[in-house]
Amino acid sequence: MDEEIYDLQEHPEDEEASLRPTSFEEYIGQDDLKANLKIFVSAAKKRDETLDHVLLYGPPGLGKTTMAMIIANEMGSHIKIVTAPAIDKTGDLVAILTSLSPGDVLFIDEIHRLNKVVEEILYPAMEDFCVDVMIGKETPRSVRIDLPPFTLVGATTRAGDLSAPLRDRFGIVSKLDYYNEEDLTKIIDRTSHVYHYEMDDAAEHELARRSRGTPRIANRLFRRVRDFAQFYDEDTISVERTKEALDRLKVDNLGLDDVDRRYLLGIINRYNGGPVGLEALAASIGEEPITLEDVYEPYLLQKGLVKRTHRGRIATQLAYDHFHIVREFDE
Ligand code: ADE
Repeated sequence: MDEEIYDLQEHPEDEEASLRPTSFEEYIGQDDLKANLKIFVSAAKKRDETLDHVLLYGPPGLGKTTMAMIIANEMGSHIKIVTAPAIDKTGDLVAILTSLSPGDVLFIDEIHRLNKVVEEILYPAMEDFCVDVMIGKETPRSVRIDLPPFTLVGATTRAGDLSAPLRDRFGIVSKLDYYNEEDLTKIIDRTSHVYHYEMDDAAEHELARRSRGTPRIANRLFRRVRDFAQFYDEDTISVERTKEALDRLKVDNLGLDDVDRRYLLGIINRYNGGPVGLEALAASIGEEPITLEDVYEPYLLQKGLVKRTHRGRIATQLAYDHFHIVREFDE
């Protein structure tokens, strides 16, 4: 135990890493995506080829990076992880591509944020495993550099923002969905085992119900709920303690947090239920439109609390019911 504490202090990032499943077998949920990927990986291995390029999209926290790591692991290859905004010159991407070994997986997170000039380097790299670079100052000429065969795994929260030429170069395009309560409960149970901290079944269900269908949130809340139990010297996390902790963290029984509530109550109270444009709503509650659109709205839409229309966002009857607000109609 002492050793574990020491290790985590040395490498705080390991705490998150130790929770990541490393194989399809260990990965819970996203069943259709997993079943398909298993087939594509297995077939590519039989042909002794690299896996076709993969685009993973969906809301944050659902396991896109984890899935990329599993793909590399299952292919028996190494993974190189980069985020698109960190690649601002073509030279940066060329350096990354030429450093790959045959069969490597290159994971580019937030791939919709790749700048246009850098993106164009990717086209021949993905299609023909080569890049064209300009060399020479006085009389520049284009030189073709061959790359080792590799698999690009791109991840994005906004598939719609990808240019068509880039999107079309991915042979496999998969969406990650919010997890249902049953799968999230299994993930929380696994987390409790990884941390060697027991949690009652009812407590696991309660936490699953209030984690927005998102493993990253479930795991973060697990650590906070565990803090409460540990504070009271309880070696098993009970449902009562879980409820108390989540209430104190202001996570309500639908898993909505403070920003979700300000978003919905903003539409209801300031715009009479909507429709209201995203920009106006964002300004009125002091959040960035893009954060609302990528992080908050997907879950609220999925839960049917808000609707997107061509005239703007509308709070649904469910949203009014959730806050016990009786709707007032204009004359
Ligand atoms: N931890 C986070 N996401 C997970 C998943 N999908 N399966 C297993 N453990 C996880």
